[in-house]
Amino acid sequence: MDGVVTEVGAGGLERARVNSARAETHIYLQGATVTHFQPHGAAPVLFLSNRATWAPGRAIRGGVPLIFPWFGAHSSNPKAPQHGFARTRTWRLLGSQVIDGVVIVELGLEDDEASRAGAWPHAFQLRYRVSVGDTLGLALEVVNSSTQAFQFEAALHTYLAVGDVRAVAITGLENTTYIDKVDGMTRKRQGAEPLRLTGETDRVFVGTRSRCVVEDRVLSRRLMVDKTGSATTVVWNPWSAKAAGIADLEPDDWRRMVCVETANAADDVVTLAAGQRHVMTAMIRVDAGA
Ligand code: BG6
Repeated sequence: MDGVVTEVGAGGLERARVNSARAETHIYLQGATVTHFQPHGAAPVLFLSNRATWAPGRAIRGGVPLIFPWFGAHSSNPKAPQHGFARTRTWRLLGSQVIDGVVIVELGLEDDEASRAGAWPHAFQLRYRVSVGDTLGLALEVVNSSTQAFQFEAALHTYLAVGDVRAVAITGLENTTYIDKVDGMTRKRQGAEPLRLTGETDRVFVGTRSRCVVEDRVLSRRLMVDKTGSATTVVWNPWSAKAAGIADLEPDDWRRMVCVETANAADDVVTLAAGQRHVMTAMIRVDAGA
């Protein structure tokens, strides 16, 4: 495939390595997880833990795990895996093409006996298009191939690489409402100031469709996350104490990452009629000079 090599990556897992005229990207078929995006001449945009677990059926800590069909814990089944099953299933590589120097890779996942027997019995078809140019483009298409409507949540759980999370400012979420997962799911209002993280942060910002910009003075750059078809933005960082209990993070990793997730969750759960499709996209790029 043009600009795309399939190869054995970490842990013996299969991945697609994309080398476009503008950037390099790695996409593991496990979970369709984009683990690396680096425009030529720039530093990596995505954080990936050196302690990530690379094993079949395990979520990869870093890059962009793909969350579907529920976000966080399942609402009624405590045995169902956190964040759904899409991030731990093996996706199919469907093909690739090059348009104006941008390489587009398409992956797919459908329901099967195992998914239907689990906590989400519906027939579905997922298509994930990853485009690699100056911008990393991620487009998740969900098709309801069953005969009844279903509801789903989804997130492009993007781990952005930052110089020091304590020194970043995130704009785009001012004057919005969030569910504070570290304060008993209390609903709160974000003020008019950019968001600065000062401790463990796990916030589900509902009704948020705007671009988020992560200003990183340490790395002297700005990371821009634009999106469509997404009404939720999640901002997560476990901070030091929580991170110490996460086996696939190094002790100081929490300082070098911030998750700004393009999502539809909580109030923004999507209801999809039989035969209908829904597309959510995120466009991630780096702008030098914050
Ligand atoms: C975030 C959630 O999206 O993902 C957090 O809001 C969660 O509550 C975090 O802790 C990481 O989840 P996981 O399952 O990848 O460790």
